[in-house]
Amino acid sequence: MEYQKCSVSDICGGCDYQGLSYDKQCQKKQERIEKLFRNIIKVQPIIKSEHPFAYRNKVQVSFGKDEKGKIIVGNYAKDSHFLVPINDCMICDEKILEIIRSFRTLLNKYHISVYDEKAGKGCMRHLLIRSSSIGEYMAVMVTGSPRINHEKELLSDIRKYNPELKTVIHNINNRFTSMILGEKSRTLYGKGYINDELLGCTFRISPSSFYQINRFQTEKLYAKAIEYAGLKGNEKLIDAYCGTGTIGILMSRHVKEVIGVEVNEDAVKDAIINKSNNGIKNINFVCDDAGRFMKKLAYDKEKIDVAVMDPPRSGASREFLKSLCMLRPERIVYISCGPDTLRRDVSYLLKEGYSLKKLQPVDMFPFSEHIENVALLVRRQDT
Ligand SMILES: C[S@@+](CC[C@H](N)C(=O)[O-])C[C@H]1O[C@@H](n2cnc3c(N)ncnc32)[C@H](O)[C@@H]1O
Repeated sequence: MEYQKCSVSDICGGCDYQGLSYDKQCQKKQERIEKLFRNIIKVQPIIKSEHPFAYRNKVQVSFGKDEKGKIIVGNYAKDSHFLVPINDCMICDEKILEIIRSFRTLLNKYHISVYDEKAGKGCMRHLLIRSSSIGEYMAVMVTGSPRINHEKELLSDIRKYNPELKTVIHNINNRFTSMILGEKSRTLYGKGYINDELLGCTFRISPSSFYQINRFQTEKLYAKAIEYAGLKGNEKLIDAYCGTGTIGILMSRHVKEVIGVEVNEDAVKDAIINKSNNGIKNINFVCDDAGRFMKKLAYDKEKIDVAVMDPPRSGASREFLKSLCMLRPERIVYISCGPDTLRRDVSYLLKEGYSLKKLQPVDMFPFSEHIENVALLVRRQDT
């Protein structure tokens, strides 16, 4: 697959593998996982993407000004305050880029100010755009100030030029923080969320809920997790770190009962609506820390047959793993975006009576060194 190296690849920091062929990128990822799990398991060949370009369905940019005082959008170079202007990006959904360019033009047209972090003054700070595989787009304008000058005109123009935008949200973040979103939001247009479809189910996505960012590979990842779960129909399953409930909802068709646990309140609200929109009855979602919740289940001696876990890059907490082992599910399907923490947590589970049966890398992040993996662990008969 031929491509021209991105012109800002040396300073942007968004990609690690610019200049490498896609096959070479996958080979490097495969070797990394094989090295990490050497002597433990034979790693499956990585599931490559047929679409290594324009896959990102979520893009966040910041605002600044160039030397002529014109508004620019871009990302801060790694560990710096230098804003790398972004016009094109080979890994982002192309319509998202068009929407970002459209905002840039309109903010200049209406002379809207840019937020100055040091002074704590000004308006536009970040822009977050999300898209779904059914062509719905969401824009979140993050400002330092509570008001946006020319809001009506800006909104009317942005909708005119970008009819795919199903919703526009204003979020206020005037704290000194690296977090993009602040606590207060108001919907300026649309419903405040967008919808997606995966493996025959529909999912609602709110601005702060986690959602897989690769629109082409997510179904492959989830299908592998369903296969590894080996469901027969009578199981009680836990979907830990469940986000908007995607995995639990997809698996609910194949089991007796599902419990989903997730710490982000907005994601849990989405999950509950997703349950009802898909007409599912046998799943319940709980908003809690996954470790604390598993401890409660273990204390109550709940019977869990299968556990699916998909923690953030930092992996699962010791409290979670300890309680998981006390619950003794037959199978554990561990989805991970952090190979080192997966290795750490798998080592713990191996000592506590589980065997690692399968390990499948999935390339969710072409051009980045990040790797997603799905692991299947099965409880040993002698434990
Ligand atoms: C990698 S995402 C996976 C979400 C979901 N399984 C999916 O595929 O969309 C990890 C999720 O764990 C949640 N999370 C992070 N720490 C948590 C904790 N201590 N307890 C419960 N959920 C947590 C995050 O909010 C996020 O939704």
